[in-house]
Amino acid sequence: MLELNNISFKVEENGESRTIIDDLSISFEEGGFYVITGPNGGGKSTLAKLIMGISELSEGQILFDGEDITDKNITERANMGIGYAFQQPPRIKGMTVEDLLKIAHKGDLPEEECCQYLADVGLCPKEYLSREVDNSLSGGEMKRIEIATILARDLKIAIFDEPEAGIDLWSFAKLNETFQKMHKEKNHTIIIISHQERILELADKIIVLENGKIKTMGTKEEVLPSILNQVNGTVCAIQGKELFNE
Ligand SMILES: Nc1ncnc2c1ncn2[C@@H]1O[C@H](COP(=O)(O)OP(=O)(O)OP(=O)(O)O)[C@@H](O)[C@H]1O
Ligand SMILES: [Mg+2]
Repeated sequence: MLELNNISFKVEENGESRTIIDDLSISFEEGGFYVITGPNGGGKSTLAKLIMGISELSEGQILFDGEDITDKNITERANMGIGYAFQQPPRIKGMTVEDLLKIAHKGDLPEEECCQYLADVGLCPKEYLSREVDNSLSGGEMKRIEIATILARDLKIAIFDEPEAGIDLWSFAKLNETFQKMHKEKNHTIIIISHQERILELADKIIVLENGKIKTMGTKEEVLPSILNQVNGTVCAIQGKELFNE
């Protein structure tokens, strides 16, 4: 349903061109649950922004349900059913959480449904519905409100960039349940960018992105054991040779 065909993203740095996403091709299937992981700076958020149309491709093509959306802007892509929850959500002064959920839903959204979306991300609806989406919200609260707006939308494909970032353990458990529910009940394609083992375990497919290229892609059974091995190896190597656990 979403096809990335040989896409690249290059930037100019000190007069030289730097390739952030390097000739990448991935095909996401309808209803699939994908988790993209990999080292910091590997290009994960950039990839999400290219899919959403926030950044422009340097080369390549993006097809959505067979239609070429390469030249479509963010609004057009959003209207087609692509949604993106930012790694660091923006704040909008003068707007309440309820307003934001209603705008996301694009139509009348009964209060009890607004409350359900907030409960799904572990926020007490009574406390938050009339709060302003400004600097008074903590980072974790803001992040969860952003995720609730994605739940409120009628999407075909939902992209979450590090939904776990800044979120406490209790809310994180709730969020995991919500992702599972979303996957089972709606036929959304879900793409989550994450470093969390518990989110990796939810995936049908895991993609490891490094230096703007796919390092590994496969089912969680194929990919997860090797990721965990590598991570353990790196930590031990940093701590000293005698601790290396082979
Ligand atoms: N517009 C830009 N101009 C210059 N460099 C950029 C631009 N966008 C991204 N980069 C660089 O590209 C690399 C990939 O960034 P990106 O945010 O996609 O990484 P990431 O995989 O999401 O990392 P993290 O795990 O830390 O969130 C980084 O080195 C970043 O500094
Ligand atoms: Mg990122």
